[in-house]
Amino acid sequence: MGYSIRMDRVKPSAIRSVQKRIASKQGVISFAAGLPDPDLFPMDDLKKSTMEMIEKKGKQAFQYGLSKGNRELLQVLAERMQRKEGVDAKPENIVVTTGSQQGLAMTAMLFLDEGDIVVAENPSYLGGINACRPYGCSFLGVDTDEDGIVISDLERVLAENPKVKLLYVIPNFQNPTGRAWTLERRKQFMEVINRYDVVVIEDNPYGEIRFKGEHIPCLKSMDTMGKVIYLGSCSKILCPGLRVAWICAAPEHAVMYERLKESLDLQCNEFAQLQVVEYMKNYDVEGHIRKIQAAYKEKCDLMLSLMEENFPASVKFTRPEGGMFIWVELPEGLDADGILDEAVEAGVAYIPGEFFYANDGAKNAMRLNFTTVSEEQIRKGIVLLADVLKKHA
Ligand SMILES: Cc1ncc(COP(=O)(O)O)c(C=O)c1O
Repeated sequence: MGYSIRMDRVKPSAIRSVQKRIASKQGVISFAAGLPDPDLFPMDDLKKSTMEMIEKKGKQAFQYGLSKGNRELLQVLAERMQRKEGVDAKPENIVVTTGSQQGLAMTAMLFLDEGDIVVAENPSYLGGINACRPYGCSFLGVDTDEDGIVISDLERVLAENPKVKLLYVIPNFQNPTGRAWTLERRKQFMEVINRYDVVVIEDNPYGEIRFKGEHIPCLKSMDTMGKVIYLGSCSKILCPGLRVAWICAAPEHAVMYERLKESLDLQCNEFAQLQVVEYMKNYDVEGHIRKIQAAYKEKCDLMLSLMEENFPASVKFTRPEGGMFIWVELPEGLDADGILDEAVEAGVAYIPGEFFYANDGAKNAMRLNFTTVSEEQIRKGIVLLADVLKKHA
């Protein structure tokens, strides 16, 4: 019995294997995680709202529901897209997904054929890239700088490669760099992609976790041609265990996602969808998000100030205004994966940057997470990491 050819293209996550390497030594301070802080989950309100939901809608919660998503949730999410993102969304634009990871997987399934090209930022979220791999596509990276995707590089890639079908971008507090695109770059990006027959995935799980600076409109709000497929998620604003996320797309695309979902899993978990409805309608979700923003800001600021104080001057890093990650660039020639074992031995860990590229990636980079570590761990861990870097940089 042989597995499908498709499975040859599905590889175990390189990041998971790094995390295993790190977990093999006890007591390591890990900046390698990619999880939201569980101490911030609104446990009391979730307990109360869940009980209230069962009392009011228990039978519905345990019954089959619509493939597209629970009707009330579609309404809540469409309103949220209007209010928070300035997108003229209606329930017919929304499809509920099991995490935005399912939105990524379904988008790849809907649009990609063998030989198509997917364009992703250099670097990017590997989960998005891996979702495309089964379909026999190839990948091209477009450079990014502190203002976001580099438009001249994007123009070149699109002009030279007519087989580009899908662009995968994370304009807000990107995983792994923490950077947000400027308004100017977003406008330029839309102007460029509107000239090509392509589909854009705007993956935005971190957009609401802005803890500094002004909100910048999402690509979807500037999408006059229905080319942008927006992915939103409750994972970072509420909790990832519920696995409730959504697609906001042109109605003709939404119909196709619904058709696909019928054959994939019939529908998302009705219980979890109704938990989100109850919580979002009757509890202080905006106050909760403000708490997350404040807590992450404090940790991010602390980490950055310690990095400024302790890291060698030749080491550069991003200064995120939101999200969960800081991206560190080491001097040319220094291999972050090569010194990871030494760092782990010293008691601190990170994810080497090379694992965040569709093709070959920069070896002299690392991703640091600041959400699941305590202030004390940040204080200790950054000094330990600085000592390792000083030996090499
Ligand atoms: C950029 C990005 N997209 C998507 C996801 C998946 O999120 P979800 O929990 O909604 O599936 C993650 C998870 O960390 C992410 O960083």
